Amino acid sequence: MARYAVFGNPVAHSKSPQIHQAFAAQRGAELVYERIAAPLDGFAEAVADFFAADGAGANVTVPFKEQAFALCAERTERAELAGAVNTLWQQDGRLHGDNTDGAGLLADIRDNLRWPVADRRVLILGAGGAVRGVLGPLLAACPASLTIANRTADKAHALAALAKKSKIGGPPPPLIESCGYDQLHDGFDLVINGTSAGLSGAMPDLPDTLLTAHGQAYDMVYGNEPTVFLRWAAARGAATADGLGMLVEQAAEAFARWHGWRPATAPVMAALR
Ligand code: ATR
Repeated sequence: MARYAVFGNPVAHSKSPQIHQAFAAQRGAELVYERIAAPLDGFAEAVADFFAADGAGANVTVPFKEQAFALCAERTERAELAGAVNTLWQQDGRLHGDNTDGAGLLADIRDNLRWPVADRRVLILGAGGAVRGVLGPLLAACPASLTIANRTADKAHALAALAKKSKIGGPPPPLIESCGYDQLHDGFDLVINGTSAGLSGAMPDLPDTLLTAHGQAYDMVYGNEPTVFLRWAAARGAATADGLGMLVEQAAEAFARWHGWRPATAPVMAALR
């Protein structure tokens, strides 16, 4: 039987086995999908062993996404811009990699929430791996502008420079800007929090006028309670959503790649809630 797995360290918390098995069950199939806690210095070997022993596809999570990128012989364009890979498979004996995080984010925002992105002013908070990981699909969604803001402004500038060099997006290509939080004034239609600040109960120091009257706020993180950022946005009249839908949609994108059919995501999201 073909094997699937998620590699991470730690990985015990991962919901990927549950999500992929629920997808497979939609067609009455059973799936072997394991959690593999690779040693921090043994990721490449663990991946090689997995594919040598009937591994058909693997997801990759923290802290191995950049190492997975480096291992791949072939990568999708969006993975190239992300500099990170979360989905692996083998074809003709070569390791292929994709990054489905951004597609998952956009599927949740546009298809599930029905928040438009095209021609809108989009702000993304943060400039770490999580934000870089979603840049390609965000640009491809043709916002009027994409502003990257970060506590350390230089990292936002570096990501904006990368995004400007990419061929993903437009025509017309979105206007790409970058700044620190203290330079943010304007009203944005959609604000996406891609910082890890919420994990410690913090949030960036943001101006009250950040969102337009009917603005929308998305947090790539999810939890049992709304994040500090989402509570802040809701108090200012914004529609809000957390990243659970992104988690399920990025999994669906990987699943479709491996199995050749697209699972329904709504029932899996409802079950996880
Ligand atoms: P990830 O893989 O989650 O993106 P990362 O690459 O370490 O992790 O990036 C963390 C992001 O969260 C960065 O944008 C970081 O801002 P800095 O680059 O200035 O460090 C941001 N971040 C983390 N804690 C924060 C806080 N308390 N306030 C504001 N931004 C924070």
